[in-house]
Formats: sequence, C-alpha cells, structure tokens
Amino acid sequence: MKLLVLNGPNLNMLGIREPEVYGSATYAQLCEQIRAHAAILGAQIEIYQSNHEGDLVDKIQAAYGSVDGIVINPAAYTHTSVALLDALKAVGIPAVEVHISDVSKREDFRQISFVRQYCERTIVGHGFAGYLEAMDYLMGAHNES
Ligand code: DQA
Repeated sequence: MKLLVLNGPNLNMLGIREPEVYGSATYAQLCEQIRAHAAILGAQIEIYQSNHEGDLVDKIQAAYGSVDGIVINPAAYTHTSVALLDALKAVGIPAVEVHISDVSKREDFRQISFVRQYCERTIVGHGFAGYLEAMDYLMGAHNES
C-alpha cells in the first residue's frame, strides 16, 4: 500500500506563516509526523510539496498505476484549481482533502473547494492530525476492498 501526501503553496512556510492560524510547528515536523505514522500503518509513503500548480498536476499524473491513496492539501489552489480536480479525476486514485485550519470558519473565498467534488473525505481544522486521520481512512478503505 503506497500513499502520496501532496501539499500546495506556502505549506513549506509552516512554522513561519501565520502561526495564529497554522500553529508554530514546521513543515519538516509535519513530514516527520507523517513518516512516523506511515511506519505504524505499514504504508509506503511519498511526501511532496510545491508552490506551482502544474507541478502538483504532474505529481498526481505520475501517481497513476503506482499509488493507492492520495492525501491532498492543495492550500490556496483548493479555492481556484479546476486543473487539480481534473488530475484527480483522471487518475481515479482514492483521495482525501485535508486543511490544517478550519476553512469553514474563514473568509468567503475559502468556502469553495474544487477538489472536494472528487475527494472521498474532507478533514478541516484538525491541525497536523488531519493528515494522519486521512492516512488511516485511506488504509482502512483499501483493506476493506
Ligand atoms: C489551508 C487553507 C487554505 O485556505 C490556505 O490557502 C492554505 C492552507 C489549510 O491547510 O488550512 O494555504 O489549505
């Protein structure tokens, strides 16, 4: 079972960017938590972050045939990107959308998510734990099928 964790723009700035919204833990610490959890679950893991929409599209396309589940925090591209939605639809890999903050309680422009139409679950406002919950879900869904 291989999981791909994808992070969009500015998530590499965790720990620095708006700590009152995203907390003070760093992107490196997020990656450590994800890797440790993957080891517990017995999952292979790849973690990728990009500030560029096309890079994220390329990564989703490259996952076709080799990845069993995608955890995606598209960050600001959540609210703008039809391309990411289309890429997920194209590869057909089960996916869960994660947001560190509770986007449902934030600005109006954050209420739209294009990838949500495809994702099996959306987890918001659970901080870094949301990624681990998404991994649990994808592993469970895979084991049932
Ligand atoms: C975010 C929420 C988005 O609205 C924002 O653009 C981000 C991070 C989150 O994880 O809470 O960059 O996806």
